[in-house]
Amino acid sequence: MKKKVNFGFKKVSEDTKNLLINNVFTSVADNYDLMNDLMSLGIHRVWKNKMIKLCNLQDCQKVIDIATGSGDIAARLLKSEDNIHLTCLDTNLDMLSLCKNKLLDLGFNKNIDFIQSSIEKIKLDKNIFDLSTIAFGFRNFTNHAIALQNIFDSLKPGGKIVIMEFSQPRDKNRNKFYDYHIHNIIPKIGEVIAKDYDSYKYLAESIETYMTPDEVTKILIDSGFIKVKYLYLFGDIVTIHVGYKN
Ligand SMILES: C[S@@+](CC[C@H](N)C(=O)[O-])C[C@H]1O[C@@H](n2cnc3c(N)ncnc32)[C@H](O)[C@@H]1O
Repeated sequence: MKKKVNFGFKKVSEDTKNLLINNVFTSVADNYDLMNDLMSLGIHRVWKNKMIKLCNLQDCQKVIDIATGSGDIAARLLKSEDNIHLTCLDTNLDMLSLCKNKLLDLGFNKNIDFIQSSIEKIKLDKNIFDLSTIAFGFRNFTNHAIALQNIFDSLKPGGKIVIMEFSQPRDKNRNKFYDYHIHNIIPKIGEVIAKDYDSYKYLAESIETYMTPDEVTKILIDSGFIKVKYLYLFGDIVTIHVGYKN
């Protein structure tokens, strides 16, 4: 029997999940940046800046931003060091177009490639990237082991992976409050602003059904990464993982 994976609270086949995820991002693309600001009260910008600091980008590095979406991480990487070669990869054409336009508006048009593909399906060249970043995309992947294998193979020895994702407060009371917020407030904001209750309901469910930071650490180690560690941000609701290829 074919393996089933989580799509929010539903169990679906990998092919169905790919389709459903793509539909979610086609549906949210137009309001994606606005919704991020509203849902996090702008604080996602602080998290993203922290992630860029941890990347410790150097001149001339080759970087791949996976699940690049509307290009917030791509733009910040280029702002922190514009003499890099950047590849922006995303499954969803609408999100990738937002990324292209954002980078162009900011004046970034050199040494940037765009790839429309899922990270599970692409065969990237081996040993070419110094850094691989994924912000708020890992949770949506269909097959984490395959995705991580592709990323690992594409990194140079010594190359670094930095993943930022949602996580859940360890404190019970804070967790209850957070749970209420993501399941009740977030889909309502989605309904009113983006006219899309279902996609934001999926967002909440995907956070609840996602791996714990320790589980993510384990699959990173199982995929060959070393010196794997993570840190919690903002009352535990966001986690940044870092690992290296030997
Ligand atoms: C929540 S957005 C994150 C965008 C951006 N990184 C940010 O932090 O704002 C997640 C993105 O991951 C993309 N995505 C989901 N699954 C993917 C996969 N398997 N491979 C590549 N991109 C994927 C979606 O199309 C979407 O644009």
